[in-house]
Amino acid sequence: MTRKPIIAGNWKMYKTVQEAKDFAAGLLESLEKLENGTNAEMVICAPFTALAALKDELEESIIHIGAQNMYYETQGAYTGEISPLMLTELACTYVIIGHSERREYFKEDDALIAKKVKTALDFGLTPILCVGENLALREAGQALVFVQGQVENALRELSPEEIRKIVVAYEPIWAIGTGRTASPQDAQEMCAAIRATLARLAAEAAQEIRILYGGSVKASNIAELMDQPDIDGALVGGASLDFLGFTELIGSV
Ligand code: G3H
Repeated sequence: MTRKPIIAGNWKMYKTVQEAKDFAAGLLESLEKLENGTNAEMVICAPFTALAALKDELEESIIHIGAQNMYYETQGAYTGEISPLMLTELACTYVIIGHSERREYFKEDDALIAKKVKTALDFGLTPILCVGENLALREAGQALVFVQGQVENALRELSPEEIRKIVVAYEPIWAIGTGRTASPQDAQEMCAAIRATLARLAAEAAQEIRILYGGSVKASNIAELMDQPDIDGALVGGASLDFLGFTELIGSV
């Protein structure tokens, strides 16, 4: 089974509208100069405020636009929230759901995340479902069971055909923004366990689902991570903020 790799940048709370425009123009130009091109699907997950600008710059390009979060209602009295309808209008095709920073700082739980995944699918958005353990769980030998539980809790109400459409990102919290990447072997072990869980929920779809690794991914370590059989790409934070660096990373896949 050949799965098309995905390299998704998650800008987090970085970049003004102008900075987003400059990045988009720079990225398109530098990708053209990539010697061997790329066969990766490329996604930029930007702050809400930059999405309209990215629609103008990237809608007709090979780069997909994604959001970093959304609410599960279409509209209503939910001050400060953004609906899936608002995202599709801005040409978003991806949305990150359940990033560990949202789980930790904004107290998102598995039940809320499950609703968001379902609604994203209903609106034709591809959810990038983030899962991952913290250091205490890893040191206690609980990482595998914990992450498998996160996957099950987010997806168990979905049909196999819905599950087929999602992307999972395994991001160990201790590797995010720390410069400390999981070893390719550890990342593979976790991604294989995630695929085994997906197979229990949607037997025929599991081999088609893209599983990304995230956590201090950069141009110098992406290749060895992606050499692993169950790692189909990366969710990249810090190294996605500079278009030249991001291009180099894409070129290393
Ligand atoms: O969503 C991206 C991840 O949180 C990874 O961030 O590449 O800065 O470690 P990082």
